[in-house]
Amino acid sequence: MTNKVCVLGAGSTTYGKLNESIIELALNASREAIISAGITPKDIGAGYISNVFGAADKQVHIAPVIMSNLGIPYVPGLTIESACGSGSVMLREAFANVYAGFYDCVLAVGVEKITHTGTAQSTTLFSYCSDFFYEGGNGASFPGLFASIARAYLSTYKATEEDLAYVAVKNHENGMLNPKAHVKRRITVDEVLRSPVVASPLKLYDCCPFSDGASALILCNEKFAKSSGRPYVEIIGSGRGASPAAIQGREDITTIPSTVNAAKQAYKMAGVTPKDIDFAEVHDCFTIAEVIDTEDLGFFEKGKAASLTREGETKLTGRIPINPSGGLKAKGHPIGATGIGQVVEVFEQFTGKAGQRTVKDAEIALTHNFGATGASAAVHIFKKVN
Ligand SMILES: CC(C)(COP(=O)(O)OP(=O)(O)OC[C@H]1O[C@@H](n2cnc3c(N)ncnc32)[C@H](O)[C@@H]1OP(=O)(O)O)[C@@H](O)C(=O)NCCC(=O)NCCS
Repeated sequence: MTNKVCVLGAGSTTYGKLNESIIELALNASREAIISAGITPKDIGAGYISNVFGAADKQVHIAPVIMSNLGIPYVPGLTIESACGSGSVMLREAFANVYAGFYDCVLAVGVEKITHTGTAQSTTLFSYCSDFFYEGGNGASFPGLFASIARAYLSTYKATEEDLAYVAVKNHENGMLNPKAHVKRRITVDEVLRSPVVASPLKLYDCCPFSDGASALILCNEKFAKSSGRPYVEIIGSGRGASPAAIQGREDITTIPSTVNAAKQAYKMAGVTPKDIDFAEVHDCFTIAEVIDTEDLGFFEKGKAASLTREGETKLTGRIPINPSGGLKAKGHPIGATGIGQVVEVFEQFTGKAGQRTVKDAEIALTHNFGATGASAAVHIFKKVN
């Protein structure tokens, strides 16, 4: 027998350049999620923690430290690393354990603390998440790798650098409505095009920033959620996928196989199609990534996402709003936290806490988050419970 899995509580720090330690960030988000769920730490059967660069803040084996500081040192915790996709891959494990009935209620917290190392060192550390022998070790940082993907896309399809700029403008606009977003700056297409080149054709405003931050969820089975008497959201679909680690191993770099496969599984489990999704939080580490994601997830036909984004289909009021939170681009990208932060956005949207960025009449939402250039990915689908 399997259980329905619900999100009963959610919490998040602001994302940005933050002064707190990695442990303080994780605890702040966890405590907010615990309060939001109306539970106490004693209700938690297990802890799932996603993090990549704990060593940069002098703490690895982070799970037991978090559990001990929450006052539940005998509750098992597990740290999961899957590069920028750590949060969603960890969510999948937390989900699976409640689904299988091992625990009634678990904590899922993602955290990252990196900005104190500076841009050059962060870029080097992040390159260890690529296939370092072929990529990072030869100087191909993530902006460089996604620049190659962007070049391939722009030369294969009818799309321009100006089209990509519309992704950034839209996500910065949404980020303005998110009090916890890292980058709060309204930008124009012209400013994106004139911003400094990072790795051609990608410019400053095509890139997500390096961010610190933490996000947390309380997951539980349906019986637990119902007996709480509080609002909750149901997870109706979950899928995971993989791709060759280095992009040179892929037949076509204008699509990400891990996304396609994870999405297929999640849609099948949820019994829905891309047309049923009312909004999505997707992995827009660079503007080109959002374009490719929205095609791989089935929202747009191959080669059409850039021009349809330009026409406004992915705006908050568009046909399929993408990244109402501001996305990685503006909300920020603390890599261990990102996949969990996306679900915090879904929880806030479905429980009346999203304020001005609320997507009207939304009932079904999707989150998508990948590691590196998509070597690993997970997709989850959520239903509003009235
Ligand atoms: C784009 C990038 C090179 C900019 O680094 P930088 O030039 O050192 O930027 P700084 O931190 O010095 O910030 C300079 C200014 O630009 C802003 N900024 C930095 N990165 C930004 C971004 N990605 N988007 C918007 N604004 C950004 C800062 O807020 C700052 O503004 P201010 O001067 O008004 O305070 C860096 O953010 C980057 O490499 N991002 C990609 C991270 C990545 O690869 N993640 C993994 C994805 S798979």
